[in-house]
Amino acid sequence: MSNPERRQTWSPDTYQENARFVSDLGNAALNWLAPQKGERILDLGCGDGALTKKIEQAGASVTGVDASEELLARAAERGLDVRRMDGHQLSFKHEFDAVFSNAALHWMLKPLDVIEGVRQALKPGGRFVGEFGGHGNVSSIITAMRAAARIHGGDEDLAGPWFYPTVDEYSDLLVSRGFEVRRISLIPRPTPLKTGMRGWLMTFRKPFFEQFDDAHQAEVLDEVELLLANSLRDSKGNWTADYMRLRFEARLGK
Ligand code: BEZ
Repeated sequence: MSNPERRQTWSPDTYQENARFVSDLGNAALNWLAPQKGERILDLGCGDGALTKKIEQAGASVTGVDASEELLARAAERGLDVRRMDGHQLSFKHEFDAVFSNAALHWMLKPLDVIEGVRQALKPGGRFVGEFGGHGNVSSIITAMRAAARIHGGDEDLAGPWFYPTVDEYSDLLVSRGFEVRRISLIPRPTPLKTGMRGWLMTFRKPFFEQFDDAHQAEVLDEVELLLANSLRDSKGNWTADYMRLRFEARLGK
């Protein structure tokens, strides 16, 4: 077994090719945000800035933060105001009318630290609107990676290090930090993978495969695909991932 770099890293080109759907499918969350002209909005986990740009185009003044320097460089090329920041350590003080987040909160494993940082970033009466992976998200894919780790002698815990809460769990966390939950839903969203399961696995779960040496990696990838084919691949060879989204709007009191 090789000595893997366990941190998730992002290549903007791979991301563009295999994960464009992340922002393409973010419009529902954006509709819940309903950005207004003149508002100041923080995009938490802005990635390459595709949705951040849409918020700006709605007339709001937007700042994006993300932990990935590589994706932020792409966002900066769009002319956006972006900063590198860990979502657990937001440093803003009562500056924003709204904090928005799409497909990022499930990467942040200490949700109370995140929600506390959002609370402090918001003005009184401000709103926190977002969408991320909810309970059951990509559960078949995680199970297949875990099974492949058992078969090939790998570390199963590298299969899925994500935070996928239920509606009740996330509502409780928001309420515990002073938010009123206006609406929240867990929404199944089967997601076609235009570049297949391999593209998804190598974009989003590289550290799992990097624990194996090169020759063994290909075998483990084959194993995961084989385990998933019955449930996530159709007769024409098209792959669909079993996404579940948790979408919410919460507000602070004035
Ligand atoms: C998601 O958006 O749900 C997701 C993205 C990458 C890895 C796992 C989940």
